[in-house]
Amino acid sequence: MKTKSMTIQNHELAIGQYTLSSLAKVYKTPLYVYDEVQIRDKIATFQTHFKSDHFQTEIVYASKAFLAPYICHLMEELGCSMDSVSLGDLYLMKQSGFPMEKVFLHGNNKTREELLFALEHHVGTVVIDHLQELKMLEELATSLKLPQKVLIRVNPGIEAHTHEYIQTSKIDSKFGESIFDDLTMTQMIRICQDSHYLTLTGFHAHIGSNIHTETAFFMEIETLVKFIVKVKKLTGFETTSLNLGGGFGIQYLDSDPEVDLAMLLQMMVMKLNYLVTTHELALQHVMLEPGRSIVGDAGVTLYTVGGIKKIFNEKKYVFVDGGMTDNIRPALYKAKYSVDIANRPYLKQTELVDVVGKCCESGDIVATNIQMALPVCNDILVVYSTGAYGQSMASNYNGATKSEVIFVRDDEIHIAVHRESLEDLVKSYVFNNQRFFDIHSDMLYDLNQKALDNNHQHFKNFHVPQLIASNIKGSIWTMYSPDDFDLVDSCQRALQEIDMKLLPGFEVILGLEGLRNLKKASDIELLYEMGFRHAMLTWNEENRYATGAKADPTHGLHEEGRDLIRRMELLDMMIDVAHLNERSFYEVLEVSQHNIINSHGNVKALCNHVRNLTDDQMRALRQVDGLMGLTLANNFVSLNKEEQTLDRFLDHVDHAVSIMDVDHVCFGFDFMDYLSEFPNSNLGAVDNATKVYKISEGLKQRGYRAVDIDKICYLNFYSRYHQKIMLRGEVNGRN
Ligand code: LLP
Repeated sequence: MKTKSMTIQNHELAIGQYTLSSLAKVYKTPLYVYDEVQIRDKIATFQTHFKSDHFQTEIVYASKAFLAPYICHLMEELGCSMDSVSLGDLYLMKQSGFPMEKVFLHGNNKTREELLFALEHHVGTVVIDHLQELKMLEELATSLKLPQKVLIRVNPGIEAHTHEYIQTSKIDSKFGESIFDDLTMTQMIRICQDSHYLTLTGFHAHIGSNIHTETAFFMEIETLVKFIVKVKKLTGFETTSLNLGGGFGIQYLDSDPEVDLAMLLQMMVMKLNYLVTTHELALQHVMLEPGRSIVGDAGVTLYTVGGIKKIFNEKKYVFVDGGMTDNIRPALYKAKYSVDIANRPYLKQTELVDVVGKCCESGDIVATNIQMALPVCNDILVVYSTGAYGQSMASNYNGATKSEVIFVRDDEIHIAVHRESLEDLVKSYVFNNQRFFDIHSDMLYDLNQKALDNNHQHFKNFHVPQLIASNIKGSIWTMYSPDDFDLVDSCQRALQEIDMKLLPGFEVILGLEGLRNLKKASDIELLYEMGFRHAMLTWNEENRYATGAKADPTHGLHEEGRDLIRRMELLDMMIDVAHLNERSFYEVLEVSQHNIINSHGNVKALCNHVRNLTDDQMRALRQVDGLMGLTLANNFVSLNKEEQTLDRFLDHVDHAVSIMDVDHVCFGFDFMDYLSEFPNSNLGAVDNATKVYKISEGLKQRGYRAVDIDKICYLNFYSRYHQKIMLRGEVNGRN
């Protein structure tokens, strides 16, 4: 079925002002194209004809048919609510800025996480599927002291005439609690009535999808009204809201029955009006939840013909560049579609063909046994009515990248979903399992800053997922110490934010980046008691202990610094010479040769940065069996922007290994992607923890042996220091 604004322009099919072949040329195929005019029209039909003087009405778009930020914005503009069925849906709606009070959360197996998200983000209505779920929500709402409006999903036991996989209201369906189960229903209503936080306003039912028989909807209304009356008798509960679900059928083929939507909606309202009056119902609010009928026949898919094949029994196959990966419906439901040649629609439809996709599946069908003109290679085919449950059920089977989605309205084109790139396709795969120990991270400083901003979710929501997604298995987490800073207080605050149970197996050493705020050397013991096992004496400044890289080069280590180093040595702490100026560096090595590291700095011979080490410094570090942690900060790799590359970083590794040997080099990445002050300070190629695998890959390409790569990336540090590592779970703060 053609969409509303489809016309013929220059002998070709067009939507709005664009021929389909021109869209295919610009946006490539397969391409989903929505006729926005038709979507707007459909919503207007629902809003105009589903209206009553007896109760308010509301259209809740069933987003499972097609969801993207663009559709969220459109629904908001047109005054519709939206339904969601998962954390993913909720997250996308939230990210799109859709008003969460207009969201309904569905699902027959909602997780605790989903319910928590709903409560915390003030989702308008949770549609409860069953008793156990209701109890879980009640508990969560009470413990968080958060209110929640709910509807109970009921199964009215109506067999709508549609494909059996999309019937949802047969007597043995998995959805909702049965209207015949008085005991469970009474119990659920009581729980809501007794709850301080849950408000039950009524019930929800959805009898199936793509229904063409009007009587099914009338039966649904009658059955639900009877049920409401029964519930009132049983429990005294007055139903004020009723959600009748979606399911309105569309025409996929000319031969499909046509549903006169406007008429059906009016008749449903008349029926409801009549029943509300005769039964004196307290009904104030009735909702519909259409998905397919809003977007289904407003969307088409464009494909390019790649080949035509005639097999020995004369059957003709037309091969296109998509298939079951962008529309699974023919394979799943034997769904039928009609097809035209978009660039030559005038040809006589004389051939019987199967249009099929490119997957290794015989069921990979676009349209089977259809009468059309025989296309030639590079013709653009348009498949009609693919706007619902096409893109939303798309998959990456056989390495398919998901297709682009555009909306056309007259001369306007909006991209709603970008075509997936090959990079997108592979981003969640694990290519490389090389483990890493990162001997310099600003984690504690970051957590302290975020806690001061009252953000207590950052560890859990940002660092944990990022580290889990990365190959980093352990780290020195440091607290940087700027001017006017209460070191102990800040350390305590940061530690409160950490819950190591969320990072099973991750090894942590707590460290200090600069001690200018340590009032006296003996206070290091206090920090040791708190779990700290590592410190740098300075940042770039001169302080009472030593002189940093950017301070007077003629000054060095101070008396109090010597005292501090001796104390650290007695405590078996790690002494980090990073940030010291050259004189302090050598003077520290005279006082102690124990547990010395330079956690983050590169090779001065390759990049003349004040924080990088000369070859002599590196030799001195090697002599005390110290470790050199190479870092990803741009300007430590090169002062020349063009050279701030992974390749140049690997040159630093080569150089450090040539001077210190493979047993004394490791990594202190110093990621800054999460520090608001320095967002783009790491190499573009490895700008966050999830990309470190590229470094080991680079080393492999440069001919490093696997054992040596493991030494540099992980073992050099780990084997020397793991006995000093805080036991897992010991760093435990807020949950
Ligand atoms: N409300 C609820 C609770 C639903 O489960 C559904 C669809 C709708 C509303 C919207 O139904 P619609 O108006 O779109 O018919 N993948 C299948 C359809 C599955 C429908 C799932 N639920 C297909 O491609 O035909």
